[in-house]
Amino acid sequence: MTPRGTRHVLDVDDLSCEELTAILDLAERPPSSLPPVLAGQGVALVFQRPSARTRNAAEMAVVALGGHPVTIGAEEVGIDRRESAEDVARTLACYHAAVCARVAEHQTLARMARALDDAERNVPVVNLLSDLAHPTQALADLLTLRQHLGGLAGATVAYVGDANNVWRSLALACAMSGVRLRTASPEGYGPDPDDLARIGRAGGEVEVGNDPEEAVCGADAIYTDVWTSMGQEDEAELRRAAFAGFTVDERLLGVAPAAVVLHCLPAHRGEEISAGVLEGPRSLVWRQAENRMHAMRGLLAWLFGAADDARGTPGA
Ligand code: CP
Ligand code: NVA
Repeated sequence: MTPRGTRHVLDVDDLSCEELTAILDLAERPPSSLPPVLAGQGVALVFQRPSARTRNAAEMAVVALGGHPVTIGAEEVGIDRRESAEDVARTLACYHAAVCARVAEHQTLARMARALDDAERNVPVVNLLSDLAHPTQALADLLTLRQHLGGLAGATVAYVGDANNVWRSLALACAMSGVRLRTASPEGYGPDPDDLARIGRAGGEVEVGNDPEEAVCGADAIYTDVWTSMGQEDEAELRRAAFAGFTVDERLLGVAPAAVVLHCLPAHRGEEISAGVLEGPRSLVWRQAENRMHAMRGLLAWLFGAADDARGTPGA
């Protein structure tokens, strides 16, 4: 049985559209205006893979809400090596108000969440990136777009690159916010039918193609991510060849004169994005990186009941 009020966030569609908006609203509130909903409590941040932004954003978000973050590296807990993911989750839930984790396999998060539900522990599991999803990134992406455009509904985002974890959560977030998403990927690296069906269930539609120029024409924002994600290092050479022509560079920006540029970072200048575009006047990537912290604070504030209206309150 899932204890009433426990909400795991393994991807963006674990939230309703109203909840997503409530989280963005909380993210934009000055931290000092939020109640210290984590006062006297810990939050576990487990990392099976490296992180600069997510770790620091999450730690500072917990601190801003009065809590104490405990970051745990891959070697310290050894998920499914030293002990099972289920036992790790149940152990961490003895000390912490939430268990947040970056994992190699999405299924690990699902197992952790199920173990806590089965144990009737009222402790949410939050995905800090898996091979399938990166929901806390997508929250920051929406926040950045909303700040830039003044609203989300009716906007058009063009994603140029691999239909990966970042793409999947972005696509769901766009679908739930009335943002049109166009995707341009090389053959074999685009969305699969299951992704498209899920995005349809979330209320959106993705235009899928293989032509970056077609995708970015008329877009409000161009988004890209690395060609080789963590865990795919053996495919790096193959991917570099497959993605040739998919660099977000000055020439591509010329096709979309109104578009700003987003990238979740880390970036590989000269591969998926040119150095000039990354550092250029149309790049919002550094604001986007800062927004990781604000979005994470908004999410945790919402999870722990700081929503400013009943519609966005977990379990309401
Ligand atoms: N964008 C992002 O998740 O960055 P890190 O891998 O550094 O956390
Ligand atoms: N797609 C990238 C995102 C890094 C934040 C990866 O999974 O490595």
